[in-house]
Amino acid sequence: MKTILAVETSCDETAVAIVKNRNVCSNVVASQIPIHQQYGGVVPEVASREHLVMINPCITQALAEAKLSWQDIDGIAATVAPGLVGALLVGLTAAKTLAMVHQKPLIGVHHLEGHIYATYLSEPELMPPFLCLLVSGGHTSLIYVKDCGKYEMLGTTRDDAAGEAFDKVARLLNLGYPGGPVIDRMAQTGNPQAFPLPEGRISLPAGGYHPYDTSFSGLKTAMLYLVQKLGQPLPVNDLAASFQATVARSLTKKTLTCAKDYGIKTIAVGGGVAANSALRQQLKAAAEAENIQVFFPPLKFCTDNAAMIACAAADHFQRGHISPLTLGVQSRLAITEVMKLYSVN
Ligand code: KG4
Ligand code: ZN
Repeated sequence: MKTILAVETSCDETAVAIVKNRNVCSNVVASQIPIHQQYGGVVPEVASREHLVMINPCITQALAEAKLSWQDIDGIAATVAPGLVGALLVGLTAAKTLAMVHQKPLIGVHHLEGHIYATYLSEPELMPPFLCLLVSGGHTSLIYVKDCGKYEMLGTTRDDAAGEAFDKVARLLNLGYPGGPVIDRMAQTGNPQAFPLPEGRISLPAGGYHPYDTSFSGLKTAMLYLVQKLGQPLPVNDLAASFQATVARSLTKKTLTCAKDYGIKTIAVGGGVAANSALRQQLKAAAEAENIQVFFPPLKFCTDNAAMIACAAADHFQRGHISPLTLGVQSRLAITEVMKLYSVN
């Protein structure tokens, strides 16, 4: 059993958690959303400064809630990529300092690997191989999870990520930031069939469509034209429901096609958009019909948190994967490259 304290500061949440393998001892998240709301999106410099203010109180709170002291901690983890560089630096510098002061190993973690591990927190029996549909603010990916640190990217987005599409459409409908939760809420009382919208398919040069890649730019443009055509007052609930159902349908089709083509019987969904009620409902129903298991983490582990980062770190640490104290942050890093973060003992 490895007990890991992890910090996650890749975007607009300052998060610290303590996890024993797959058991969460504490999970502290200080969201900056109210601060960024006034700008309509995340302002990187503001995010970094806010992380600086919140990181120490969050660390203290995580230890207190877990009722643990530094002697109980086996390793210190931090998200090191991908993300906002200034924001990541705050978390990594805090983690390095703690590792040095308390003489603990440092484990750098890839943010998307964290989202994959989020499902382990609620499904302690889940083991690779499985397919992960990762849908967040910055990513829409179908990842073949073969083992800890061994990933194959099977599908990705050609333009906007799913969460980004929710955020942009919410702005178009004057619903504020972040868009996902508010669109989901408005959609509850809307008609998902009110407006037929394009799912977004990628044509292949040889004809036909790319089976696993997604594109949301056509859907976004269709929403813009629809809003211009309808004029005020907008039927916001019907628009939200139709948009959300279209995104869910597109993701469900691609995920199931991929799982069936690769003969994968288990799907884990991760990232902020995994909280979406239409996606949860559509994918669950479609997977059930194909005899495929699908797991969605509880909502608090879908959006950014440090428990998922600690869980990934615990698995790497267990296998002797430790990061050097010279490790830096990176705004971009493919998930297939995660082993670059470790000097394997
Ligand atoms: O994973 P996450 O917390 O941060 C990133 O790593 O990007 O994802 C944030 C994204 C935002 O775009 C937000 O609008 C979206 O997740 N989101 C949702 C829902 N809750 C959050 N999208 C659709 N439905 C939701 N219920
Ligand atoms: Zn995330």
